[in-house]
Amino acid sequence: MLTNWIFSILLISTQARWLLETEESLEATATCKTYACKTTSVTIPTGSCGVDSGTTVSLVPCSTTTSISSYCNTTSLLCTNTPLTPALVNYPGEKCSTQSDCRFGICTSGICKGQALGETCTLHEQCDPGYRCSAGGVCVAQLGIGLSGCRSYADCVNWAGCNVTYTTSNGTCTQYASVGNGVTVTDCVNGWSELCSSGYCTKLGTWFGSLGVCSTAPMSVKAVPSNCSVNTDCLGTDGINMMLSSCKCGFNSAGQSYCMPFIGDPSGVSLIQTWVSALKSTSSCNTVRRSAEACLSLVGKLAATKSADFYFRNYSMTINNDICVKSIYTSDYWIISYAKIFGAGLSFFLLWV
Ligand SMILES: *[C@@H]1O[C@H](CO)[C@@H](O)[C@H](O)[C@H]1NC(C)=O
Ligand SMILES: *[C@@H]1O[C@H](CO)[C@@H](O)[C@H](O)[C@H]1NC(C)=O
Ligand SMILES: *[C@@H]1O[C@H](CO)[C@@H](O)[C@H](O)[C@H]1NC(C)=O
Ligand SMILES: *[C@@H]1O[C@H](CO)[C@@H](O)[C@H](O)[C@H]1NC(C)=O
Ligand SMILES: *[C@@H]1O[C@H](CO)[C@@H](O)[C@H](O)[C@H]1NC(C)=O
Repeated sequence: MLTNWIFSILLISTQARWLLETEESLEATATCKTYACKTTSVTIPTGSCGVDSGTTVSLVPCSTTTSISSYCNTTSLLCTNTPLTPALVNYPGEKCSTQSDCRFGICTSGICKGQALGETCTLHEQCDPGYRCSAGGVCVAQLGIGLSGCRSYADCVNWAGCNVTYTTSNGTCTQYASVGNGVTVTDCVNGWSELCSSGYCTKLGTWFGSLGVCSTAPMSVKAVPSNCSVNTDCLGTDGINMMLSSCKCGFNSAGQSYCMPFIGDPSGVSLIQTWVSALKSTSSCNTVRRSAEACLSLVGKLAATKSADFYFRNYSMTINNDICVKSIYTSDYWIISYAKIFGAGLSFFLLWV
């Protein structure tokens, strides 16, 4: 059976490691560069958005230096035109202007129109939103929550996964992040489950499989954000076991490092809640496209999921940012916070002088 990650792939890089297994944890982290708006004594060359001295990165947003090239390339620190996004090939339910925009389906009234209920298919991708390709090769309605007969997540409505074992192909559609602690799930991999409400699970048995029990998510022992100098400063606990995250450089004026979060920390809880809420609004997307950028963009959830992803995966980068770091490096995260505060995300960045 194919394992299909919807949003959990984001978590692999920040897995908590068992405390005793972590040899490298005692190593000191490298000295971090400082990142901040330039001071008056620093001169930024025309057309640049910053100067990197090796220890200090002095910044100035492109929008304040030139009106044409408004994108700061953080590798070269040059102001350039906003990079072109590659042309996307779209799926049933997604936008198109010509037939070549549709990977599957026929471009009709600006939307790739796929196979309708009862029409033939060989892949889920061919069916219109709300449908899946049945074992019999026909587009049929996705299964609702609590219904059995799923083989993978694609058989279920867009806000549910399939709780199914490798040995059967008769799983039950289960809403993402809905299963309580102590209950068994079949999607427990590396301590993570999309079906558990905590996001966290403990594997059952030692064999190669993904059966696990939903458990209390680990949280940082210290209050977050927690500054650090070595990984062993970054202790977490699920109430029983101690574990470590990692100490990573921040993007702040002090060159301070911060502990990366555990899934039970606010940024982990927000990641799960944001995705659950976004997936609930993707009923106008094809079943296998529920977490694709084109789908999330179509339903107005791309900025929110990007921001939540950034806040979890790149957590240390988002702490104590000044206004230049926010606009150049971490806007994927901040744009949503400002939208919440001011009601319009972009205006904040345009106001900077
Ligand atoms: C940024 O600059 C680097 C080095 O000059 C270049 O290789 C890269 O393609 C640029 N990235 C974008 C998005 O323009
Ligand atoms: C699948 O499981 C459900 C209950 O778990 C059962 O009612 C149904 O008959 C099963 N279907 C098949 C094809 O085995
Ligand atoms: C998931 O499937 C396993 C194995 O069949 C079963 O033990 C467990 O109760 C199921 N969990 C849920 C939430 O349906
Ligand atoms: C954390 O920050 C405080 C206050 O700036 C400082 O005194 C302390 O040394 C820092 N701890 C680490 C581990 O960097
Ligand atoms: C965020 O973290 C991921 C994974 O650690 C990394 O690949 C990515 O480059 C980071 N994003 C930025 C903008 O640095």
